[in-house]
Amino acid sequence: MAYRLTMVGTGYLGATTSACMAELGFEVLGVDVDAEKIARLQAGDLPIHEPGLEEILRRNLAAGRLRFTTSFEEAAAFGDVHFLCVGTPQKAGEYGADVSYLDAAIEALAPHLQRECLVVGKSTVPVGTAQRLADKLVRLAPIGAGAELAWNPEFLREGYAVQDTLQPDRIVLGVASDKAEKVMREVYASMLEAGTPMVITDYPTAELVKVAANAFLATKISFINAMAEVCEAAHADVKQLSQALSYDDRIGGKFLNAGLGFGGGCLPKDIRAFMARAGELGADQALTFLREVDAINMRRRARMVDLARELAGGSFRGCSLTVLGAAFKPNSDDIRDSPALDVAVKISEQGGRVTVYDPVAQENARRAHPHLSYGESALEAARGAHVVLLLTEWREFIELDPEALGSVVASRKMVDGRNALDAEVWRNAGWHYRALGRP
Ligand code: UDX
Repeated sequence: MAYRLTMVGTGYLGATTSACMAELGFEVLGVDVDAEKIARLQAGDLPIHEPGLEEILRRNLAAGRLRFTTSFEEAAAFGDVHFLCVGTPQKAGEYGADVSYLDAAIEALAPHLQRECLVVGKSTVPVGTAQRLADKLVRLAPIGAGAELAWNPEFLREGYAVQDTLQPDRIVLGVASDKAEKVMREVYASMLEAGTPMVITDYPTAELVKVAANAFLATKISFINAMAEVCEAAHADVKQLSQALSYDDRIGGKFLNAGLGFGGGCLPKDIRAFMARAGELGADQALTFLREVDAINMRRRARMVDLARELAGGSFRGCSLTVLGAAFKPNSDDIRDSPALDVAVKISEQGGRVTVYDPVAQENARRAHPHLSYGESALEAARGAHVVLLLTEWREFIELDPEALGSVVASRKMVDGRNALDAEVWRNAGWHYRALGRP
């Protein structure tokens, strides 16, 4: 049977999943309380920067397989499977996750559910949330137990969202019945046929897989950044250390780039929410290491500011600094918890004149931090700079010509916050080159 799908919440996750599931041939309806977002999506205007996604959105709108609405009543009547794709941000002033958008989504959808359907949670949640929402769904839906919940965490990376959605590494599914499993096997039939592994489990395990994966990735990054700290103290080179580790295929080379550390809308808040939830469950001791992971990560930003101050001659007063990069990582316009902007703001607070340039996240940065200066290109932003900081490793920065950049700056001083440049090449061009974790 060709199921009709709804996506509740059309942010990063919902917009991507809507367009990609339509691309697979499903009829999809995206629903959101944000009328402006819905109008933009319906007009084929993607509110986020995600390579390849806007074409897929437009193609499927034109084909009539994809539509967007603000009506939950319409969504309830339309869908056989309703995906919950709303955000679960960090609560203000505390570690835990705010799951109120999920509750609001169930409260908006459930009272309109008149026929049998499956509601599938995709958001990242504290373990135990799915069971609570399943009970709430049955309580609020007129069809009662005819509306069932499944939990299907999403692992997509920004910048690779299309690929990660259409060719995921694995599908994880927490279900409470064989019927739910059967429906989801049909929804993901094309991926399963292509050999994508699927793990069928219960709600809490499915919820935990997601946060455990992000905790592992964050730990791997902080591990190599801890090694960078030791390398600095011992005059060793973390880039070579990381390369040597990577040849051990039990360790692997991915997520082993030392530098300014992790940011974004997921890793930082997910490890904090995980610690908070473990505490509620009386298992806080199991995750005390994540406190260190977080602390190591935040120390990288402070170290970056110190290194920049050192190159500025001991104080930022009267010093012009160029920050290359504002996005939390390349190929994204996302500035949520961006290490680059955090460093830019700290230096500016300490009296430095900071000019930022980012090829894609510039407008988002300008809106969030109007007090910083912005250049229209890397070279323009670097004009007259005493120190240049590379904080997001966009390809166009890695490919910068040291001579061209050198001809516009006031002094050739580069801090490479992502270990992305070839130190030899820059030093040979007369640059004072410094990087985190390298002599
Ligand atoms: C992450 C997870 O990878 C994804 O599976 C999950 O669904 C959401 O969270 P994302 O936030 O898009 O995805 O970014 P990711 O590519 O994981 O990078 C996170 C941060 O780690 C970035 O700030 C990046 O610069 C940093 N990073 C990554 C490092 O500092 N070093 C590395 O070696 C790798």
